[in-house]
Amino acid sequence: MLFIDKHLAMSKNLQSAIQEICDKHGKDRTRMMDIVRDVQGEFGCVSSEAMDLIAKEVSVHRVEVESVVTFYAFLSEKPKGKVVIRLCDDIIDRMQGYERVARAFCEALGVEVGQTTPDGKITLERTACIGMCDQAPAALVNNEVFTNLTRDAAYEIVEKLQHGIPPEKIARRLGDGNNADPLVNSMVNNNIRKRGPVVLHWDLAPGDAMKKALAMSPMEVIRDVKTARLRGRGGAGFPAGMKWEFTRGAGGEKRYVICNADEGEPGTFKDRVILTELPDLLFEGMAIAGYAIGSDTGILYLRGEYAYLRAYLEFKLAQRRKQGLLGKKVCGKKDFDFDIRIQMGAGAYICGEETSLISSCEGLRGDPKNRPPFPGQKGYMGCPSIVNNVETFCCAARILDKGPGWFAQTGSTGSAGTKLLSISGDCNLPGVYEVEFGTTLKEVLEMAGASNTVAVQVGGPSGQMVGPADYGRRICYDDLATGGSMMVFGPDRNILEVADKFMEFFIEESCGYCTPCRVGNVLLRERLQKIIEGKGEPADLDYLQELGETVKRASRCGLGQTSPNPILSTLKNFRPLYTALVKEEKSGFNPGFDLEEELTDALAIAGRKSAHA
Ligand SMILES: Cc1cc2nc3c(=O)[nH]c(=O)nc-3n(C[C@H](O)[C@H](O)[C@H](O)COP(=O)(O)O)c2cc1C
Ligand code: SF4
Ligand code: FES
Repeated sequence: MLFIDKHLAMSKNLQSAIQEICDKHGKDRTRMMDIVRDVQGEFGCVSSEAMDLIAKEVSVHRVEVESVVTFYAFLSEKPKGKVVIRLCDDIIDRMQGYERVARAFCEALGVEVGQTTPDGKITLERTACIGMCDQAPAALVNNEVFTNLTRDAAYEIVEKLQHGIPPEKIARRLGDGNNADPLVNSMVNNNIRKRGPVVLHWDLAPGDAMKKALAMSPMEVIRDVKTARLRGRGGAGFPAGMKWEFTRGAGGEKRYVICNADEGEPGTFKDRVILTELPDLLFEGMAIAGYAIGSDTGILYLRGEYAYLRAYLEFKLAQRRKQGLLGKKVCGKKDFDFDIRIQMGAGAYICGEETSLISSCEGLRGDPKNRPPFPGQKGYMGCPSIVNNVETFCCAARILDKGPGWFAQTGSTGSAGTKLLSISGDCNLPGVYEVEFGTTLKEVLEMAGASNTVAVQVGGPSGQMVGPADYGRRICYDDLATGGSMMVFGPDRNILEVADKFMEFFIEESCGYCTPCRVGNVLLRERLQKIIEGKGEPADLDYLQELGETVKRASRCGLGQTSPNPILSTLKNFRPLYTALVKEEKSGFNPGFDLEEELTDALAIAGRKSAHA
């Protein structure tokens, strides 16, 4: 009887809390991410009962709620502790002492990674890169970031948590003095090592570029961005002005400006630095884009790992509203209203892909959408939308302030401007560097104090692993293109094990929709591991090459199309590492896998007859 009463009381609590949360978000199904994030924060899970209640409140089928909850790493149906410690176990953290720190957390908590303490209060998990590679080992404790972790720090954090001290207070104490703004209560140090002339530069007062843009027509603004030859800084390098023009011309009543601050590519943390140091520059760029394409709404999609920045960014947005730089009649301009909201992610790398990001903003699973139509035709809520990287918007604001000619004269012939690099790994000065396009990899390594470097992963796991023969190559769109991640590996690192870790990342982050990505990456990793274990044969190298190319060709979205790169680029640039490990071919070797059969579904989706076509 007592149990039933207690259960009823808990259900009532849950019901009223969920009503309150749903009311707060206007019972709007497109705000599903905010709703489930709040429920997760309040109850440590989104239970089956909670899903039913949310579905009822928001008038959707329960399966819609469930599909969101099961998609994102930071959401869970099963109860977790009120405190969740997420240790980054990505490659850089592994190089900097993850094992030591993880052991200390396990000892202090009396659980293994992946478990919750017996009192149900604290959960210890692992996670992929949290954008703190310049100060690894790092961890998230709920929304707070802890960096440069040691065994002692792990014990201290656990002790304080067990005494009921909230993570934000612990972070504030440990990180004292790291951040100028008290709203950023973290241990994060931004490690700006080199300021270039374009982005990491403090000479733009809020509103300066905006006023110049508003004195022009929207088409003139777009013309300036095109003349400056600004290309996207998020990785793909699409010309920004062309995207804006296309979106403006797409017609329809409503258009959207979306900033991609998902920054999920392991090894990338330069957007984190912009968001902390130069949010005004970013918001200025987004508002200018809004004016150019005829939009009154901007969305900043902020990765769940950067939740520690949210209060600060909200404060900055409120400040700009007060200054007349957001809201109705921006800068007094009749007929131009523009405001920005923040959409939090919840731990999914695929949500950096622009169509997945749009799905997530719409309150759905972060599944990629078919293209065409492109977001510029049919994006957020079916309306024409631009999606640009944080750094791209910052460059646009600078272009409007200083002029397209000024911008275009920096950088190299095919790549105008500068690029922010996030450098981590085996170097003395990890951090963020703003370099002009055209800078060689050798120069970059020298700046970062890297010596004896045997390999550099340029552009994150989806990029390429290059060796000393490539250090003369230049950072630019036509040579070594990168969204900014640069991981440095010294002579003590096992490059094939690094490639294996990257494959693990892609397997975990695949949305599972198409077979080449879902199955192909697992098969690639298995074969790579066989080689690493010394059980490989020469034919395995051809197999890796062939299957890798097929996965690239037949996958539906950018994740699968780049996921074999860790293997393909090491096969190309570090082949002796493979050949040293493979034995002479045994006769009659059978890989035990029929490529055509495995890929039947995928090939049908991709409209191809054969994996070899
Ligand atoms: C799996 C995947 C993850 C991505 N992650 C990001 C990201 O975190 N940030 C980003 O700006 N672009 C990311 N992109 C690229 C975006 O799809 C898109 O091209 C970019 O946001 C466009 O902005 P830009 O033209 O300013 O670079 C990702 C792409 C893929 C396929
Ligand atoms: S390639 Fe396919 S399975 Fe992989 S993330 Fe993209 S849609 Fe999902
Ligand atoms: S924070 Fe761990 S690899 Fe980036």
